[in-house]
Amino acid sequence: MAQTLVCGFHARDHRLKSVPLPKELREIFMLKVINVAGARPNFMKVAPIVAAMKRRNDDFQPLLVHTGQHYDEAMSEAFFRDLEMPEPDVYLGVGSGSHGAQTAAIMQAFEPVVIQEKPDWVMVVGDVNSTLACALVCAKLGIKVAHVEAGLRSRDRTMPEEINRLLTDQIADLLFTPSPDADANLRAEGIPEERIRFVGNVMIDSLLSQLPRAQQSSVRVDLGLSDKEYAVLTLHRPSNVDDTMAFVRVIEALSEIAARLPIVFPAHPRTRKMIDELGLTARVEKIKGLLVIDPAGYLDFLQLLSGARLVLTDSGGIQEETTVLGIPCITLRENTERPITVEMGTNTIAGNNPAKIVVAAFRALDNPPNKSEPRIPPLWDGHTADRILDALIEKGKGGQYRER
Ligand code: UD1
Repeated sequence: MAQTLVCGFHARDHRLKSVPLPKELREIFMLKVINVAGARPNFMKVAPIVAAMKRRNDDFQPLLVHTGQHYDEAMSEAFFRDLEMPEPDVYLGVGSGSHGAQTAAIMQAFEPVVIQEKPDWVMVVGDVNSTLACALVCAKLGIKVAHVEAGLRSRDRTMPEEINRLLTDQIADLLFTPSPDADANLRAEGIPEERIRFVGNVMIDSLLSQLPRAQQSSVRVDLGLSDKEYAVLTLHRPSNVDDTMAFVRVIEALSEIAARLPIVFPAHPRTRKMIDELGLTARVEKIKGLLVIDPAGYLDFLQLLSGARLVLTDSGGIQEETTVLGIPCITLRENTERPITVEMGTNTIAGNNPAKIVVAAFRALDNPPNKSEPRIPPLWDGHTADRILDALIEKGKGGQYRER
């Protein structure tokens, strides 16, 4: 157990009796945690955890490391501002590269930080290259790693994220899952029960806490859109945007849907680059009703999302956000690692076939979900960060640091 056994008493029991813990003892019990953020979908998961650690500063000494996998103002800094995150304590500045080069650069830059800081835990989130790279560094140094959003599986090993998920879960010491299907996946892979904790979805902590601020944004008005009279599109998966034929199929579907409902499209930098490289600029510009904009910050995007009548996406997180917001979501992929958003939420998996995408979109437009009966998965309640911290305290220190 954590925080135990000094002078034969338990630190938490001590505090429960409202006797302030002496500073020297607090420092002994306190957990030093490096929180890793690398790419855009990490920031909304890390923000509530760091905020909770700062609030519970008797128990936690948090450090924030930004790997720099995403580095643009629009992909990174805007999120720090919108999510009210502290400046990173360490910025690794690795930038873009091939998967091998990027993963290796993150490992190389992160290892000395871990050796210098000797944290009790390193917290990695999601499924990006930074997640796996930092978990691997810790596994080799004998530093405890916790993985938030563990256990999700698309069963599609052509997705780099699936490889990152599988490997991170194999080497992490504590696996925080967002849904019961994730627990089942981990058990089926032989992960022992004591490493698995079902805590809910931490991204929903950010969504619920920032939604009121997001509603103050002027983005919808600035774009000339009216509430519930537009769709939102995001697209960046290699399976949709790196291949000309696949991208053309999506464009065909979008042309039909945009004829019925305007679509606002905050375009990911890799998607912009691919439109250009694949020679698709003219075809995209020709779609009437498609409004391509720069990547939106967190608050602007949340406002756009919450006011949309329909969402089309190949993102993972947006399938979850639309579930909680009760907005119909058409997922432009053949599979999902988040099946609960289909079972309980508003998500439909439509793949890359234009006819299937259009049918799914029109069906969603013709049969809007019943807002009075929202089905929200268990523990997607805005309190996941605190459950994660409680579990860390329970596990306590105990890494066996091995510098080589
Ligand atoms: C990464 C994650 C993916 C996540 C996505 C969300 C991995 C394997 N993939 O994919 O899981 O859903 O982020 O955004 O980690 N670029 C910029 N500015 C930036 C970042 C990227 O211009 O700030 C461009 C670069 O040209 C880069 C390309 O986008 O080559 C791809 O970026 P990268 O981080 O490699 O992967 P993503 O496709 O963004």
